[in-house]
Amino acid sequence: MKYDFDMICNRKNTDCFKWDGIHEIFGRDDIIPMWVADMDFPVAKPITEAIKKRADHPFYGYTKPGPSTIESVVERMKQKFNWEIQPEWIVFTPGVVPALHLAIRSLTHPGDAVLLQKPVYYPFFPAVTRSGCQIVNNNLKLVDGHYEMDYEDLEDKFTSRTGLSSLKAMMICNPHNPVGRHWNEEELIKAGEIAIENGAKVISDEIHCEILFKDKHVPFASISEEFQENSIVCMAPSKTFNLAGLEVSTIIIPNKKLRDEFVGMQSGMVPRPNLFGYTALEAAYRFGDNWLEQALDYLKGNLNFLMGYVEKIPGISVIEPEGTYLVWLDCRELGMDGQELRDFMLDKAKVGMDDGFVFGDSGTGFMRMNIACPRPILKEALRRIEKAVLDLGE
Ligand SMILES: Cc1ncc(COP(=O)(O)O)c(C=O)c1O
Repeated sequence: MKYDFDMICNRKNTDCFKWDGIHEIFGRDDIIPMWVADMDFPVAKPITEAIKKRADHPFYGYTKPGPSTIESVVERMKQKFNWEIQPEWIVFTPGVVPALHLAIRSLTHPGDAVLLQKPVYYPFFPAVTRSGCQIVNNNLKLVDGHYEMDYEDLEDKFTSRTGLSSLKAMMICNPHNPVGRHWNEEELIKAGEIAIENGAKVISDEIHCEILFKDKHVPFASISEEFQENSIVCMAPSKTFNLAGLEVSTIIIPNKKLRDEFVGMQSGMVPRPNLFGYTALEAAYRFGDNWLEQALDYLKGNLNFLMGYVEKIPGISVIEPEGTYLVWLDCRELGMDGQELRDFMLDKAKVGMDDGFVFGDSGTGFMRMNIACPRPILKEALRRIEKAVLDLGE
């Protein structure tokens, strides 16, 4: 089946965060929302069909993931990443964010420290601090328009802890939201070895791992037995297939001890996903690839369009993403501080994006734009930004 990604669908009055939450988030109603990470594309037909079919059976009682659902995850890992996982390694949660909180709580004690790499997806911060832990930041380096891990600083953060709280976990985001890097195997090995040699476990958030523009994805735990035993990998069909509202994620924890601790922490506190989440996950993994291929082609087209357009806008440049549909715009040459840039994008351009500074200080001067929308919407947002920037010169 051929999908029409150019089609503009009205999502208003569906209680979706992205469109119906704009007044609450941005304080005005006249902006184009390009913030929260979901897509303005209808989902793959087999997913809606599966949900309708399940809804027709009017029993919505307590539900567990069935063998066929679990098998669909095992097969997906093998088919997409050549990663052979055991069914019992999978723990289902209603989201990756709650899983990050659970992972940190299960790996640390209050007073410990957790390493992360700013600028990074900001819900990482409360996952650490609300667990009673301290954040240790290993800032990413921006070298010639390309972000890299700073291994020297990483090593230093682990080894210079005399008198400080112990660093029990490292959070990796791959692909990295918001800078769009897709860490390759060599980079993961370098970082992972430093963490593991220093006694830290790795929590690898790979929620965006099927939205890639170039390479194949390597799940952190698939690299070696040592990495497998020392990590928690967070995946989900939600970004890939636009299912965030169905709240289903797969947390893959090969090490039984780590898994038991995670599940013990989850028990009674964070529920399992609801039955429609399981239904959607299985339909997406088994029958969603035709849609996904077309969606990825369309997103690539959007990215190329954006890069061509932004070249014409003085003061803004694109950090080309290798993965995710979130684009990190470098607006530092506009010479505004974080708040001024926010006000400018809202009041003058009337485009609602995520402010770079919320991802950490090193994000100041950047904006994160969600390009998973029909191209005419993207075009209009870019036209508005271009006009607002050109008006600055007048
Ligand atoms: C890196 C990353 N992790 C997790 C999430 C959200 O996960 P969930 O909605 O499953 O809690 C997002 C959403 O944007 C994300 O970018």
